[in-house]
Parts: sequence; C-alpha cells; structure tokens
Amino acid sequence: MILIALAAALSGPAATAASPSPPPTIVSRDGRHVLMVDGAPFLMLGVQANNSSNYPAMLPKVWPMVARLHANTLEIPVAWEQIEPVEGRFDFSYVDALLRGARDHDVRLVLLWFGTWKNTSAGYVPAWVKTDGARFPRMRKAEGTAHYALTPHARTTLEADKAAFVALMRHLRQADPDHRVIMVQVENETGVYDQNRDLSPAAQALFRQEIPAALATRTGRRGSWTAAFGKLAEAAFNSWYVGRYVDEIAAAGQAVLDVPMYANAALGDAFAAPGEGGGASGGPNWQVIDVWKAAAPHLDLVAPDIYNRDARAYEAYLDHYARPDNALMVPETGNAAEYARFLWPVLGRGGIGFAPFGFDDTDYVNYPLGAKVVDAPTIAAFGDAYAAMAPNARAWARIAFDRQTWGSAKPADGSDRSATLGRWKVTAQYGLWQFGVKDAPWLKADPNPLKDQPVGGTAVALLSPDQFLVVGTDVRVSFDLARPGKGEAAQLIRVEEGGFDAAGGWTSTRVWNGDQTDYGLNLTRPVLLRVTLGSYR
Ligand code: DGJ
Repeated sequence: MILIALAAALSGPAATAASPSPPPTIVSRDGRHVLMVDGAPFLMLGVQANNSSNYPAMLPKVWPMVARLHANTLEIPVAWEQIEPVEGRFDFSYVDALLRGARDHDVRLVLLWFGTWKNTSAGYVPAWVKTDGARFPRMRKAEGTAHYALTPHARTTLEADKAAFVALMRHLRQADPDHRVIMVQVENETGVYDQNRDLSPAAQALFRQEIPAALATRTGRRGSWTAAFGKLAEAAFNSWYVGRYVDEIAAAGQAVLDVPMYANAALGDAFAAPGEGGGASGGPNWQVIDVWKAAAPHLDLVAPDIYNRDARAYEAYLDHYARPDNALMVPETGNAAEYARFLWPVLGRGGIGFAPFGFDDTDYVNYPLGAKVVDAPTIAAFGDAYAAMAPNARAWARIAFDRQTWGSAKPADGSDRSATLGRWKVTAQYGLWQFGVKDAPWLKADPNPLKDQPVGGTAVALLSPDQFLVVGTDVRVSFDLARPGKGEAAQLIRVEEGGFDAAGGWTSTRVWNGDQTDYGLNLTRPVLLRVTLGSYR
C-alpha cells in the first residue's frame, strides 16, 4: 500500500452518508502513523473473538461482548476451509452475516485470514488441501519425513491460497461499500515450530545461495545466509520466503481492494540474543522485522501478539515494533485483567490499535495465556478503559499523530516511571492512596490494596509547550520542570477533567483542585485530564 499524507483530512470531519467514505488507510509522517477510517483519524479499541467463532450461529455470542467492552472494532477469522470447501466454489454467507452484524452494531471489522498458516499449522486449509500432500507439500524434516507445516516454497499452495484470498477481497469490494472492514490480517502467526525452516532438498539448495539482492540492499548484509545473519540465518531465511509468500497474497488482494494489511507474530523472548529466544521461526518476530520489511512491502505493518504479563518485557516488545517504518498495533494480547494496563503504553507509543484475545460468550478460555474466567471484573478492566476512550478515540488518534506522547504500565516492582517531554518531566506512580506523599509513615502501615496488584497505567500527550492531555487509571501522575532555572518551581495552572466533542474540541466537566491535585493527579478510574502547567520564582 502506498502511504500518502492526507493533511486536510486529518482535521476534517468524517465523511457523511451522502458522500461515499474514502477507504481506510494508514498515513505515516515524520515517523508517526495514523489509521484513517472514513477519512478521519481512528483509534482501534479492539477485541478478538475466539478462533472458532467465525460462523453465523456464533455471532449472537460475539456482538454482546463487543458492546460490553465498549470496543469499536471486532477482529474475527475468515477461514479458507469455510469460504472454499470445494476448490473453486466459494461460500461467503458467513462474511455477509458478519458485515450485516457489524453494520447493525456499528462496529468495524479486522478480518483474520486463516489460510496456509494458522499458528504455523495447516489447520484451517480446506480438506482438499490437507489431503493432497503431493500438490500441497509439507516442510521436510532432516531425515526426509514430513513436518506438520506447509512449506513456503510450493507455488501450487501459494497460488491456491492467493486465489481464495483474492476471491474474498473481490466479494468484500462489492459487499462492503461502507468499509466496515478496516484492516485484513494475512495468515495468522506464520512460521514454524520444532525446526527453523524447510529441510527438503529444494529448500537446502536455496539456503546455499546468496541472500536476495533486495534483502542485501535493505539490511546492508551480504553473502550466504549464514555469513549475512549468523545465528539468525535459518530464521531469516524462512522469514524471507514466508514474507515473500504473504506479500504476494497481500499484493494480489490489494489489487482488488486496497485496505490496510498486516501480519502478526508469535513472539520469542523480548530480550534474547539473535537466533535465540524461541517464537515461530519465519514469522515476523521482532528479530527479523527488517527481513519482513524487505520481503513484504505490500504489508502496512507487522505486529506482535503479546502474551507476557511482565511490563518490562511487554514494553520492550512495543519498542521493537513501534518504528518510523512500522505503525504499532497489538492485534492480540491476553484477556486477563492485568493485560488491560498495557493499553496505556500502547497509546503512549502512538499505537493505532489494541485488542485482547478471546472475548466472546462461546465459553472458551485460553488460560494461562489469558483469563481463567471471563467474569465481570475482567470485562470491566478493559471495558472501563475503552468506555472512557471510545468517545475520544478519534481525537486521541489525531493528537498522537501530531504530538509527542509517552505511556507506561505498572512494572512488577511497582516502581515509578518517568519521561521528559519538552520542558516537563512526567512521573507515573503506582499503588498509592490518593491523599498524602509516598513516604508518609502511615502509608507504610496501611498500604493501598492495589499496591501489589498488576493494575495501573497512563498515557500522556504534549498538546503545546505547557499543556498535556493525560489518560489512564490507577496511577498518580505528576509534573516537574525537567531543567528548572535558578529558583524556578513548577505549578499547576489548571487541571480540567473532560473529553472531546464530535468536532474534536475539548469540553470540561469540572476543574480539579485542592485535595484532587495537592498530591499529584490521582486517576482512580479511566479518565481524561487536560493539564496546563506553568512555573513561578
Ligand atoms: C495466538 C493465535 O494467534 C490465536 O489465534 C490463538 O490461537 C491464541 N494464540 C491462543 O489462544
């Protein structure tokens, strides 16, 4: 997809029903990104349904959860096996039911194409693909027997997957004129486990070649795979060929319907050395983002599926994927309540979307990745944050595209987090009572019940040199001068609680002062504050 600047549209209102809305797109400028929907900035407050909820009979168990969560976008699979059960004969009845439901519930959609790879396996390909190993070959193990995953080196498989994907996009072009579908994920968690790549004779021959010129140009590396990538060589090799495969499918789909497309990653360890740390070898793991960028230029972004509850690791993943050449989006994260706090560091890094996985009423839980029980407190952990952000989502997206932002979630040790934006140092503190300073003796005797709980986070945006927008919950936010002049001290000029109206203007509901500001700004529920600062001598 070609990224173009739509400066006028960034501040303009969304298209009306009378004029057909422009297709969704991702715009990048000065290293920042924005998802445009109906011609205006959009923040995806998403939810992903369970894997087998992609049938019309299941949708009544999906929509109520989307509403309870105050989500504006549903991510849900479209499986190759369901749209092409017989080769060349397509059935889009589920897609039509999905589009109808999305319109009725005023929800946007991200379609997840479950094709050649779903969590690396061939589980969702049609039976006529599963059962024809000669035409649709699996990878080979070292001893020559079949590995479970389909190989990326088979043109027959690529052509068949591409034909189905293009048929889906062609159907969407006529069935989705109002652009309910705002993004398409091409395949799901590609790559392979248990070995790093196909070991068939043909793949071995490819591995002995020099790395492709486009990859050499992009990465500055040269020579054989091993010379160029060292311990990462096999993962880089598989990433290149899986990335090229996915790119060809995406390109063919975009030629029919130009909608943002991305690939998601089954991650390895956030801090591992090259070639170590696990994850699916060949998928867009953080260590091979550059390989995927070279291999798959038709993808708008690659994205992390994050199932790690540790804030340090979580934010490291976000930093890996939030790049000038890659918009940050978290298409999957755990749906346990403690993951809700990670919305804020995603927003603070200019993320365009976030979606906890496995929220619907089909009675499935993927603990220990996500929640043990999808109960009311779990739903509220995400839903309260989404409810606060939903009316402000477009305003936030516009601001994050234009302004410096920062965000953090409560770390495992509960320590303070801070950053400098302009002339201000922003500090986030966790687990405090609202009244009193952190080192007050009585605080130690009677700690706040949230002190050791994994809740809390904030995102801030620098609106102008002395004004911030602050969002978050279960956090104390305070501001200091980063470099005070002699005798200079910071002061709050005005702290307004409120939100943005449909035209993007700020509306205050009250002004915080006194106890509400004396000990920092204590956000005990998801709230938006506009904070004007100053100094005195
Ligand atoms: C990541 C996959 O992308 C999802 O489809 C799902 O299988 C989860 N893992 C586990 O529930």
